[in-house]
Amino acid sequence: MKPAIEWQQSCATAENEQFAADLHVALARTPKAISPKYFYDEAGSRLFEQICELPEYYPTRTELALLEAHAADMVEQFGPGVQLVEYGAGALRKVRLLLDAMPHDGVQFVPVDISGSHLLAASDALAADYPRLSIQPLVADFTRPHTLPPWPKDCRRVGFFPGSSIGNFTPEEADTFLRLAADELAGGGLLIGIDLVKDEATLHAAYNDAEGVTAAFNLNLLEHARRVLGAEFPQDGFEHLAFYNPAHCRIEMHLRATRPLALQVGGEIYAFDEGETLHTEHSHKYTVDGFQAMAVRAGFKPGKVWTDVNGWFAVLWLESEGGEYSPRGTAGPTRACGS
Ligand code: AVJ
Repeated sequence: MKPAIEWQQSCATAENEQFAADLHVALARTPKAISPKYFYDEAGSRLFEQICELPEYYPTRTELALLEAHAADMVEQFGPGVQLVEYGAGALRKVRLLLDAMPHDGVQFVPVDISGSHLLAASDALAADYPRLSIQPLVADFTRPHTLPPWPKDCRRVGFFPGSSIGNFTPEEADTFLRLAADELAGGGLLIGIDLVKDEATLHAAYNDAEGVTAAFNLNLLEHARRVLGAEFPQDGFEHLAFYNPAHCRIEMHLRATRPLALQVGGEIYAFDEGETLHTEHSHKYTVDGFQAMAVRAGFKPGKVWTDVNGWFAVLWLESEGGEYSPRGTAGPTRACGS
């Protein structure tokens, strides 16, 4: 028991050290900007679960409905004998809809996540409900090179990246991820959920809900810094700001200083002018054609697409023919939402 607790504590220490280092870089640069991964401490993860239930936040329920309606068709693309790799495994709720449509004895499931404690808890819960499924959780940062468990050559490796999580990446980061995925999924493919470009009012409402849950989620980033790093800043010093940036086809979230103020952390003092922001998140919206073009540049061949009647969200099947056969483009990343 004791070693496990010590291991968890040393992980938490390492995570907080990384947060401290990244926060200093974020606050020293102009404009100030930090990775959205720091939303997700325990309180932040709970707030995100609440966001998913909001009437204004359509992505989660729209994608779940697509998975529910089309799981059989989706797993048909995979073929028999699959190593299913989920990138950034959260509560492992969505993958159940795929697993329910597959014969479990032909599947190995590899959830990959950077947070070891969450990953192992979610994997244990899944194992209890799917006793015949082989589950091989991998604690890793899937945006960096990593090694998946081996799988026999005649079986296919299939990636699953739901939730439009890819929308958090810049176009350059998305391109890097897709190239890495095309490589490690060579001979198989990727099932990915993307949020689509739509009218601005719908987008705006989804990130400015009436209950203020998204505001609390955004503000929790600094509360997280207050709790674990002892950051000091005035109460009511920051407000939630979320808007659609049409030039980049993305929702941007920021924390905006309501007055000139100082944020103190780790012995450093960072000044904010009134109205100055800390950029906390990108949430890119795509067109199906634009996203497929980006996937083709990364080495994929576009397959089936499932979308809702409103055209708000899409799940895409992308084949990776693999290695030397894939048509690698040489052009750099461009805006995927264009066209
Ligand atoms: C988890 C990145 C898909 O961008 O919609 C929800 C996170 N931010 N409300 C998104 C989020 C504000 C979400 N993703």
